[in-house]
Amino acid sequence: MQHISVIGGGTMGNGIAHVFAQYGFQVSLIDVQQAALDKAIATISKNLDRQVAKGSLTEAEKEATLQRIQLFTQLEGGVAKADLVVEAATENVDLKLRIFREMDATAPDAAILATNTSSISITQIAAATKRPAQVIGMHFMNPVPVMKLVEVIRGYATSDAVTATIMDLSRRLEKTPVEVNDYPGFVANRILMPMINEAIYTLYEGVSGVHEIDTVMKLGMAHPMGPLQLADFIGLDVCLAILRVLHDGFGQPKYAPCPLLVNMVMAGKLGAKKGEGFYVYTPGSKELVVSPSFK
Ligand code: CAA
Repeated sequence: MQHISVIGGGTMGNGIAHVFAQYGFQVSLIDVQQAALDKAIATISKNLDRQVAKGSLTEAEKEATLQRIQLFTQLEGGVAKADLVVEAATENVDLKLRIFREMDATAPDAAILATNTSSISITQIAAATKRPAQVIGMHFMNPVPVMKLVEVIRGYATSDAVTATIMDLSRRLEKTPVEVNDYPGFVANRILMPMINEAIYTLYEGVSGVHEIDTVMKLGMAHPMGPLQLADFIGLDVCLAILRVLHDGFGQPKYAPCPLLVNMVMAGKLGAKKGEGFYVYTPGSKELVVSPSFK
């Protein structure tokens, strides 16, 4: 396993390209927009600088990491040599099915096709290809260079050999892989999203305020971020989409998204990436300021 292609230059895609290149793999990073690729490389360079600053990487290793990343705006050229493709495009079923059909037609026959989806069915994605045994979920956590987990999701047809290869590959990135089966939300989001939704309900019902709810979970349960800050960090639109997958997939009311979350997404208050969610975000400032809507 030497050539890894990563589809999507967004937060997850650039993080995945970063770690593979850092651990010596040749990476092809693919995005339809050149501007997204330029932004991805700038982000990877900035995040490598953090590692250089704290002494976990040398300047020469940083340069070598960047040298191992090639950029492509076309899928065809980008996956031509791939041993593994990791798709990290937008969380949209139709888009992912289209990408997997195209990848299946252009990537080498032996290539493993993985998706970083946070909740879309691996089995459904695999069924769009002629190689369902070689399709698997490889779910990294944000920020990818920091978080140790890779949730490895076996679709209905994923082979034992492909699963073993991806488990082993994750360890080569110094991550800890955990094997799970393909049911809505897998494990990570099946547990995380109901917690976030419950925190939003707690706010919605006036039990306590934004800062207070997050403080309870940070100091009481030793979470690095409270659930409302974490929701802002993930993106409220992403949280809502995952809750809908859980709600549709299990048909149980306990997964119904809180109406406040639905309203915030409709209002475009999507969290850190849009400058406002439960908190307001000012570029360059790390201070946590509760949004005026909740004061
Ligand atoms: N790349 C490289 N390094 C990074 C980084 C990045 N993008 N972001 C942060 N870091 C490093 C920093 O350099 C710093 O390193 P040292 O401690 O070694 O100096 C360390 O991470 C901590 O960063 P900060 O000091 O800037 O900030 P912090 O202490 O507040 O930590 C955090 C930030 C790591 C994000 C922490 O708050 C955290 O762990 N939050 C929870 C994250 C989480 O739960 N992620 C999962 C989200 S769910 C998901 O991704 C899946 C899904 O499907 C929705």
